[in-house]
Amino acid sequence: MTPFDALGTTEMINIRPEGSALDILSAGSSLDILPEGAALGPSIETLLDRAFGPGRTAKTSYRYREGVAPLSHLCFTAFTDGALTGTVRHWPLRLSGPRGAPLTVALLGPIAVDPALRIGGIGGNLMRHAIAEAKRSGTDMIILVGDPAYYSRFGFRSASHFGVMMPDEAASRVQALPLTAQAAALRDGGLVLPAGELVGVSAPALLRQGPIVRAA
Ligand SMILES: CC(C)(COP(=O)(O)OP(=O)(O)OC[C@H]1O[C@@H](n2cnc3c(N)ncnc32)[C@H](O)[C@@H]1OP(=O)(O)O)[C@@H](O)C(=O)NCCC(=O)NCCS
Repeated sequence: MTPFDALGTTEMINIRPEGSALDILSAGSSLDILPEGAALGPSIETLLDRAFGPGRTAKTSYRYREGVAPLSHLCFTAFTDGALTGTVRHWPLRLSGPRGAPLTVALLGPIAVDPALRIGGIGGNLMRHAIAEAKRSGTDMIILVGDPAYYSRFGFRSASHFGVMMPDEAASRVQALPLTAQAAALRDGGLVLPAGELVGVSAPALLRQGPIVRAA
């Protein structure tokens, strides 16, 4: 049994904060994790601007999202006492390397919490809910670029263990969480490629053309 088997899979959770992890929220505050609604788009962009600052879309990981729709069933928001305080999204990926049946892979990001409410458990609740939903919906693996010190607590480990590489990103920050036995056994994942319109473009061709990834 993985740590995620015990997680709930409901579309919405409501948490009454208790204990030290949520002390930053006022007593009696409520935390709701909800599917992202279309109307929330502008509010989420504002939250992301506050969390990451200007220029956030210049990050390498955004190139994997250009022209690709997010995985709507894996996009969630956190509301604290009715106010938007957190967001997490996922995007479809494919891997260049695996033999046999293709894996369903999701790129997690961005995840962000209102700067005024950080270290209060909101990010962790978003992460656990998203992981549970990814597992429930049949996602084989989640990949992200981030600080291992934060994401290891959710079961993420170096993507290199699975042979998964993300050009232009520091290998130590590229992490993966297998959600199926097939993904856990993966050792030749290869290059991370955006799913969608680039399907059919070989990894070497993509590296030569360089619209998404550049040769080192
Ligand atoms: C990263 C982020 C989503 C975490 O959400 P959060 O609600 O603040 O964090 P949580 O309350 O769930 O977790 C708190 C714990 O995570 C740790 N933590 C938070 N951010 C961390 C980071 N970037 N690196 C390492 N540890 C981190 C805290 O030290 C705390 O540790 P503890 O449990 O040992 O005390 C949030 O801080 C944020 O929005 N950061 C700015 C945007 C960002 O960097 N997003 C991630 C891009 S990879």
